[in-house]
Amino acid sequence: MPELSKYIYLDHAAATPVSDAVVRAMLPYFTQDFFNPSAPYRPARQVRAAYEAAKDRLAHTIGAKGVDLIMTAGATESINLAFTARRSRALVSSIEHAAVLSAASAGDHLLVKVKPSGVICLDDLRNKLSDEVDFVSISLANNELGTIQPLAEISRILREVRQDRLARGVTTPLTFHTDASQALSLIDINVARLGVDLLTLNAAKCGGPKGIGALYVSHHVQLQPITLGGGQERGLRSGTENVPAAIGFAAAAEHAKSHSASHRKHCQTMSQILRQAIGGIKIPAPNRNPEPYTSIIAHNTEKVNTEIISPRFLGDLKHQLSSFIPVCFPGIDAERLVYRLANRGILVSTGAACAANKGSKSHVLAAIGLSDSEIAGSLRLSLGSTNTVEQIHQAAQILREEVEHEYARIRGAQHQKLPLSRNSSRPTGSERSDQAACNDRPARAGSGKTAVSDVASSNSGNIYV
Ligand SMILES: Cc1ncc(COP(=O)(O)O)c(C=O)c1O
Repeated sequence: MPELSKYIYLDHAAATPVSDAVVRAMLPYFTQDFFNPSAPYRPARQVRAAYEAAKDRLAHTIGAKGVDLIMTAGATESINLAFTARRSRALVSSIEHAAVLSAASAGDHLLVKVKPSGVICLDDLRNKLSDEVDFVSISLANNELGTIQPLAEISRILREVRQDRLARGVTTPLTFHTDASQALSLIDINVARLGVDLLTLNAAKCGGPKGIGALYVSHHVQLQPITLGGGQERGLRSGTENVPAAIGFAAAAEHAKSHSASHRKHCQTMSQILRQAIGGIKIPAPNRNPEPYTSIIAHNTEKVNTEIISPRFLGDLKHQLSSFIPVCFPGIDAERLVYRLANRGILVSTGAACAANKGSKSHVLAAIGLSDSEIAGSLRLSLGSTNTVEQIHQAAQILREEVEHEYARIRGAQHQKLPLSRNSSRPTGSERSDQAACNDRPARAGSGKTAVSDVASSNSGNIYV
């Protein structure tokens, strides 16, 4: 394991550490077994055999065979390859990872709404499954909320649609892809049980190296090459195979699969502790109906809020990976909080690492109905194998201190009328209900429209005043 003792790392959804065992498995393929697996001589053929065996082992973790896998340079590439199955229109959920939304935006697509829990709205999916739709992509587990989607139920609906098309003589195929990047360590994945035709895997989220992914491809699905060249990976992804990374990916996936039950339980225990501690933090409510406040300075009768609430956990525990704790501290500038926590050795993020890095607003939190200021006050804590119960108690204490410090700062600044907020945009009642997911706001859609950039605006910290 890397030297993580300086930190309490609570951002496993962004990246997972590579264990010593995985590194040891990879090392020979950088050194004595460096040969190009396509070379004709014996040592190279041995490397080829090790590579194919690694694919078999990896495929086995999802109930598939090595020949069903196309190795790629990561989940983004797998997703882009999967989308080559689309010829007409794609349906994707409004909370997909940027890789899915961007790939969808390259052609005709519609967004499917989600409920406030982040679970897909099946009625909206049914309504949008017109005869033009030939590709559906719904992630198995969301990367900001940890929401687990009912894939078996979705594939049942798609089966019915296929049968109905057949009966009506409609020849448009219907291919089902899932991005399972976040799921392998916590969910027992089986492609047949899920009923998917394409499935994206990501090594970096299950203890493997970065820069390698895989796409499971059911034998009847027709894909187009994403790179042209030497014809590796059935001609769909040319380029010399990344043998060490594939070996590491297989070792990590096997370990993740065989430990998933105990890992789930470990995360549940830690999550309960952290959720209880966070739930106990009392914070001032957003200032909706302010009561007159009498300051110790006799002449100050300014109206400020005195109501106390608890932080709000996002998503729904019943449909959530046990490693995810997405939480909103209304009124707080979460980016500031992330920075302050990092200074005390607690590593967390405000959401998807790629979005946070660009400073763009989370389209996922917007899709479940959060206002701009609630999004600005949201943190994603994601637990993993590097965490201990002791660390979680420590992190809870520090988090509590920092959140209370931030609210005290806000109150102090309010009393002194200091400009804390770069953009005070507390939603009105009607704005809030407009944002409630599923039965409300029409999801963005359309050919060639970039859903991600649609929502990309400044995620400035907002303070309720
Ligand atoms: C759900 C999901 N899909 C896709 C990706 C993209 O993975 P990569 O950047 O390794 O290509 C990520 C990574 O954050 C993810 O969490």
